[in-house]
Amino acid sequence: MRAAMLDAEVGDDVYGEDPETTRLEQDVAALLGHPAGLFTPSGSMANQLGLRLLVGPGEELVADVQAHVVRAELGAAAVFSGITTRTWASDHGRLVADAVRDIAEPNAGAYSVSTTAIALENTHNFGGGTVQPQDEVLAVQAFAREHGIALHLDGARLWNAHVASGRPLSELADGFDTVSVCLSKGLGAPVGSVLVGSTEHIAAARIWRKRYGGGMRQTGMLAAAGRHALRHHVERLADDHANARVLAGALGVDPATVDTNIVFAEVTDPAAFVAEAAARGVRLMQLGRTKVRVVTHLDVTREDAERAAEALATIAR
Ligand SMILES: Cc1ncc(COP(=O)(O)O)c(C=O)c1O
Repeated sequence: MRAAMLDAEVGDDVYGEDPETTRLEQDVAALLGHPAGLFTPSGSMANQLGLRLLVGPGEELVADVQAHVVRAELGAAAVFSGITTRTWASDHGRLVADAVRDIAEPNAGAYSVSTTAIALENTHNFGGGTVQPQDEVLAVQAFAREHGIALHLDGARLWNAHVASGRPLSELADGFDTVSVCLSKGLGAPVGSVLVGSTEHIAAARIWRKRYGGGMRQTGMLAAAGRHALRHHVERLADDHANARVLAGALGVDPATVDTNIVFAEVTDPAAFVAEAAARGVRLMQLGRTKVRVVTHLDVTREDAERAAEALATIAR
């Protein structure tokens, strides 16, 4: 990856003159089956550009209660775009179309706020790397189409959903107005995400990206890292999923319930558990009052996972 970065052809991407970035945008758009793509510095920016294109000020976005756009983007949709948000509850972030139908309210009239977009997340981070059931996704899309509601997909880890489900990326990204994907995280690029959508949406997103301070100059080196990751680091995500199951076993979680590379375990004292794991050389994250999160990625080998599992198994849950 570093060699690819070193060799990257560069230009000024603010003027659309960075060839490697343009190639990355085209590659990702083609993979996801959308007409155009836009490189962004982060997944949060890609999500927020998508949302602001689909939802006007004072209009409503509905999303899962644990969605990244709701929990972990620091209110950006409200701060930057004036978007109001309502959420549905779920089990492990797993989509149930009825939950969406129950709360979405298009054309609510002069008294209540109208829903203009639905955001889904695949895989679902805080749900535990959950791959969304495709039939439920299709049911939500049919509902949205029927009511003229727009759809955004936070596909930060769509690659994991693709590898775990065997479904083509273009199938998973189909039917959404905008889709964000991350090149960092499991794919291992140092930085960067891509937003895809229609030519018109992406042209508008390019202007908003600059307005947000996300217009960057010689991004070819970063784009080259992303293109290298797309060539070499997608199919190997299956190793991360297998390693996550090894860790699940050690944490008392049924490996069969682990869809991808994220494992959540219930523990009585998460802070103490994280500290004890760190003392044994395993970095975890506390999430909430009862959970710890374990994530595998391309720098975690099978041997690392087995060693970590041995260490974790010795800590009282
Ligand atoms: C589902 C999901 N979407 C978006 C993001 C945001 O990505 P970034 O950290 O690049 O802003 C994350 C980050 O963890 C995520 O898990």
